[in-house]
Parts: sequence; structure tokens; C-alpha cells
Amino acid sequence: MEKIINEINSLKKEKNAIILAHYYAPGEVQALADYVGDSYYLAKVAKNTDADIVVFCGVGFMGESVKLLNPEKKVLMPDMSADCPMAHMAEIEKIEEMRKQYEDLAVVCYINSTAELKCHSDVCVTSSNAIKIVKALPNKNIFFIPDENLGRFVAKQVPEKNIILNKGYCPVHAVVTAEQVAQQKAKHPNALVLTHPECREEVLALSDVIGSTAEIIAYAKNSDKTEFIICTEEGVAYPLELNDPNKKFYFARESFSCVDMKLNPPEKVLHVLKTEENQVEVDEAKRVRAMLPLDRMLEMAK
Ligand code: 13P
Ligand code: SF4
Repeated sequence: MEKIINEINSLKKEKNAIILAHYYAPGEVQALADYVGDSYYLAKVAKNTDADIVVFCGVGFMGESVKLLNPEKKVLMPDMSADCPMAHMAEIEKIEEMRKQYEDLAVVCYINSTAELKCHSDVCVTSSNAIKIVKALPNKNIFFIPDENLGRFVAKQVPEKNIILNKGYCPVHAVVTAEQVAQQKAKHPNALVLTHPECREEVLALSDVIGSTAEIIAYAKNSDKTEFIICTEEGVAYPLELNDPNKKFYFARESFSCVDMKLNPPEKVLHVLKTEENQVEVDEAKRVRAMLPLDRMLEMAK
């Protein structure tokens, strides 16, 4: 592993490259990355970097978002097949139908979506900024795509808006049940439950804190409590344990893993840095349109 890391480091210098990794990427990749964070943080880093090459250790929509914001840079993905199923779970025809139905409609698009869906949206959000942005929009009627669970969570926090939900879901978070969480609570009665809003309503109802991966990690770090039940992908174990080796973290499910995020091992990072294969490409007309809601998000979330 040391040899791989040394090679990665010298190629990074030689090519003016940086490595970005999401908290769900494998721990060894988080350890060697220049920046690790949630989707919102990584989008901001990508917007501000002066590197020539960005290697993105995450899933397709994340690499695509970096390319939308940085057309002049080479954006490389360690594995082009790393894709988020939820990113495809909305239909353009449905968006158009909603726009006809509501004159003042804002289509709010979770960043976990394809560039194609972003092209038909008014503003993007991440789980870190969705409530703030939906509250600040002038529109009363909101079509929230693609995630139904995040949309419902936002709707509860912003009751003054009419939020129309769409039937998308994360196959990793939406399978956690209230029963699984209740079982962990019974085993660890002093633990706080920290949950990502992509989980189902019944799971959110049993949670003490609901937030993005970065918010979950920050909460655990700043809390006086020493035990936590974690309802999000198991990659967050790496930063949680690094911050607090003496605290205890129990995951709500035995296997809480996003297979696509795990397609980013150090060997593949080295391979793309060497070969510059797996470049993310987005057609220019599509890029210009899809960037609008992303830029609006970065502006509104400031
Ligand atoms: P964050 O918004 O917390 O980065 O989560 C992204 C994601 O893919 C959740 O499943
Ligand atoms: Fe997509 Fe879910 Fe994986 Fe996040 S955890 S990338 S939403 S499949």
C-alpha cells in the first residue's frame, strides 16, 4: 500500500492533480485524499480548486457535478461504472406535467441526480442545505426530485410550502427499518441515533439527530455522549473513529454499504492518475444548462 500511496503522491505533484473523496469511499482512499467530505463540501472545493486534474472518488453524479462546474479541468473517475441508482429515479415527462399544472413551480433537484435531470431543474440542493434553500425560494409550489424521503423530511421542516414528492429512493438508506433501529436501541439504551434524511420516515421518527454525513460526523465529534447508532453508509466509520477512537459507533444494519462507492480503491486511483483514463465528459450545451441549478445552489447556500 505504501508503494501505491507514494506513486499517487508523486503523480499528483507532477500533474497538479487533487483527489476528492466522499465519506462513503473506502477508508484507505479517504486517508490518501486531499479533501474528504459530503456532497456539498466537495462541490464547493471543486468550484474553487486551481488543480488541472481532479480525481473524484465517489459516484457518477458527483464526478459529473465537478465537470459541470469546471469544464476546463480533467475530471477522472477511478471506476466509470460507479453510479448512484437514485440519480436516475425521476422522469422528464413528469417534470413537464408538473410545470403545466403549477404556474409558479420550482423544480428542486437533489444533487444525487443526472446532468439530464439537472437540465430540467431550477435549483439543486444537498442534504446539508435543502431546508435552507427550499425556505428561501420565492415559489410556493415545489416539485422535489428524485428522493422521496429527503423531500418528505424537507416538507416537514418547511410547512408553508406545497412540496410535491417523487418516488425515488436510495437503495442503501431506504431499506433500514424502524425494527432494526429499535433493536439497536434496546441493545444500546444510552446511544443517540444519528440518521441521514434518505432513510424512511419511520426511521427518522426514532432518530435524535437527522443530517447529512458531514452533520452526523460533526455532531458525534462535538457531543459529550460516547455511544451512537448510525443510520447512514458505513464509510463514515472512518472519520468517526479517527475523530473519537474511544467512542462507540453501532450501525443500524449489519451491512450498510453502498457498493458503487466502494468501487474506488487506491489501486484504481493510481491507475487513472497514471493513464488519465475515465475522463468525465458532458456535452457543452447540456453542461451550460445543468450548471445553472448547481450555481444557484452554491449562491443560495452561502
Ligand atoms: P451527503 O449529502 O451527506 O453527502 O450524502 C450523499 C449521498 O449519496 C447520500 O446517500
Ligand atoms: Fe446513491 Fe444511496 Fe449510494 Fe448515496 S448511498 S450514492 S444515494 S445509492
